[in-house]
Amino acid sequence: MTFEQFNNIESLLDNSSSPLLIQNGTVVDHAEIRKADVLVIDGKIEQVAENLKPVSEDTRVVDATGLYVMPGGIDVHTHFNIDAGITRSCDDFFTGTRAAACGGTTMIIDHMGFGPKGCDLFHQLDVYHGYAADKAVIDYSFHGVIQHIDDQILEQMHAMVHERGIPSFKLYLTYSYKLDDCSVLKALTQLKKVGALTTVHPENDAALSLKRKQFIEQGKVEAKYHALSRPLECEAEAIARVINLAKLADSAPLYIVHLSNGLGLDYTRLARENNQPVWVETCPQYLVLNNDRYEREDALKYVLSPPLRDKAESEKLWKGLADGSIDTVATDHCSFTYAEQKQLGAKDFTKTPNGIPGVETRMPLMFSEGVIAGRITPNQFVSLTSYEPAKLFGLYPQKGHLGCGADADLVLFDPNKKQTIRHDSLHDNADYTPYESITCQGWPLMTFSRGRLVAYDGEFTGEAGDGQFIHRQPFSAE
Ligand code: URP
Ligand code: ZN
Ligand code: ZN
Repeated sequence: MTFEQFNNIESLLDNSSSPLLIQNGTVVDHAEIRKADVLVIDGKIEQVAENLKPVSEDTRVVDATGLYVMPGGIDVHTHFNIDAGITRSCDDFFTGTRAAACGGTTMIIDHMGFGPKGCDLFHQLDVYHGYAADKAVIDYSFHGVIQHIDDQILEQMHAMVHERGIPSFKLYLTYSYKLDDCSVLKALTQLKKVGALTTVHPENDAALSLKRKQFIEQGKVEAKYHALSRPLECEAEAIARVINLAKLADSAPLYIVHLSNGLGLDYTRLARENNQPVWVETCPQYLVLNNDRYEREDALKYVLSPPLRDKAESEKLWKGLADGSIDTVATDHCSFTYAEQKQLGAKDFTKTPNGIPGVETRMPLMFSEGVIAGRITPNQFVSLTSYEPAKLFGLYPQKGHLGCGADADLVLFDPNKKQTIRHDSLHDNADYTPYESITCQGWPLMTFSRGRLVAYDGEFTGEAGDGQFIHRQPFSAE
């Protein structure tokens, strides 16, 4: 694809509020693939049909011959500007959403970090509104964070959902503000009552803490012991436990974040066979990277939780995507520089800030390793990266599809473009990508956020502050 094909690029940028007509593309959503044009008026999809004509002299026309026209990506798991205790992640809501836009993503939902001990539910929401307001370049929302349970927190859940537009919350079974089973049960019960989805970071804290301590006592301080201290059974046990707690909480809806292994997936499958409302997210890192990374000199780059697993586990996850047992692919983008921040753990893996970047590479990696490699269909790609995230997190029908009236959040993907991932050409604020040197087939050429061009052929064309907070709808399983 050449710049000449879009010789109206200047006008696309200059008249970003005028009508937009995308002609001759292959329109792909979660259910259909067809040749059609897409007309956008006032930032919303007006019509999707064959042979549409410009509606005015100032209509911006894009020739999308040879391109896939798809709903923009929705990444429901990022951590921008998160205070991780020992350090703060290096992407804020500007650099993080800029990277997202350049990778074909048009909406993120950020998992807010912990606030001061004892703070109420609104505290972090107010803080995060401040972080995002003038910075985000695409639309955004936040998941509530539950760091303790008391009567005030339980009471505030209703207002978070119905007044503040936050219908999903995260609780942790490890880290500093882990909840005990009693608190988990109370949280799940109340969140179901108020119309919210509970998302959970599942790892068995007691087991992994013991292993961490033993490794450190034995002088086993290198990054690979981070992975060895958090075996997949730690994760799978916590998944099974929280599934049963959700069942005890009047079958509360439950969403497992960043699944990394097949045993955990089997537990979620069993729950679903028993008609329990459980949904599952995985991330590109668990699909395309493996624990051989911990043998490398730069192993600190791959310290995240849960850690990378072996190739057999990745294959089980791919099968889960193909057979529908996994619903979404998000990134868990939580970036720290390798040169400085990750070095905090150089002499003791327990001091390494956990997390990796990935918000810009999710769509190309999933397209290339998923669709081009024949593991998932183009419709499944849209379902996993946009449609299901929108449905589960209260964004549908505003986002996640190409029907009339939806926000014109679009990505035009060139399915033939081969591009090797190099951190130099990405737009985050880290100093590395875990996917360096992986060649993708399929790359986003244009990203539109409510009809405005925010990225074009690897260049950011948006504006800080143009992203809007999206007041999400209460959870519904429909
Ligand atoms: O290592 C990770 N994943 N860091 C981000 C926080 C979390 O656990 O999601
Ligand atoms: Zn987590
Ligand atoms: Zn996370």
